[in-house]
Amino acid sequence: MPCNTPIIVALDYPDAQSALQMVDKLDPGLCRVKVGKELFTSTGPAIVEALQHKGYEVFLDLKFHDIPNTTASAVRSAAELGVWMVNVHASGGRRMMEACREILERSAPDVRPLLTAVTVLTSLEQDDLLEVGVDIEPMVQVQRLARLAQECGLDGVVCSAREARALRGALGEDFLLVTPGIRPIESAADDQKRIVTPQQAMENGSSYLVIGRPITCSDTPAKALAAILKTLQR
Ligand code: C5P
Repeated sequence: MPCNTPIIVALDYPDAQSALQMVDKLDPGLCRVKVGKELFTSTGPAIVEALQHKGYEVFLDLKFHDIPNTTASAVRSAAELGVWMVNVHASGGRRMMEACREILERSAPDVRPLLTAVTVLTSLEQDDLLEVGVDIEPMVQVQRLARLAQECGLDGVVCSAREARALRGALGEDFLLVTPGIRPIESAADDQKRIVTPQQAMENGSSYLVIGRPITCSDTPAKALAAILKTLQR
């Protein structure tokens, strides 16, 4: 059953059992799932296969960043796992991103994963950028890297929902904007600083909403997901 909602649930768990217990409470028709560095490093490709076996489409959020050949090979391995989306760091540059797109076109032309790029990590502030030699406003750098990702033929970027409106305007309707840092009005902010509600994020032009703790730490995850989806109905 294909998923027809924009919600991607972040499975930020240290082991497979916890992740699988959580998805058993959810419905693959109502959300996709995100496997990040913690879960993948502890459990390996088996977790992706187990989630797919339960009917979930998987966003493999490993944010690859290396020389073009190495990154493209990693992206090809992700495609061989049959993931729905995989991502890289746009700061790896044009040749790296083009190599990733080309290897997907060659090796998985029919059912290739969506390829997205992280622009500037939202944990980085202007001073942090300055320290690594980037002497411009973070938002200018975000726009620059997002445009580069689009030129390289990527499908979209991961960005803050606050950046989504400007990026949607600059990059057009077809470019995917995948946005974390989402909090329903009534939930705790946790460690997220600049939060946006699901409804605001969609209005800003987000394509997909990455949501973790408001769903996974709820006593009733399916109800939390359903309540979020309800706020998105027009
Ligand atoms: O629990 P929460 O909803 O904060 O989870 C958000 C997910 O999105 C986590 O997996 C986190 O690593 C990821 N993420 C983020 N902010 C970014 C990039 C990714 O919160 N800028």
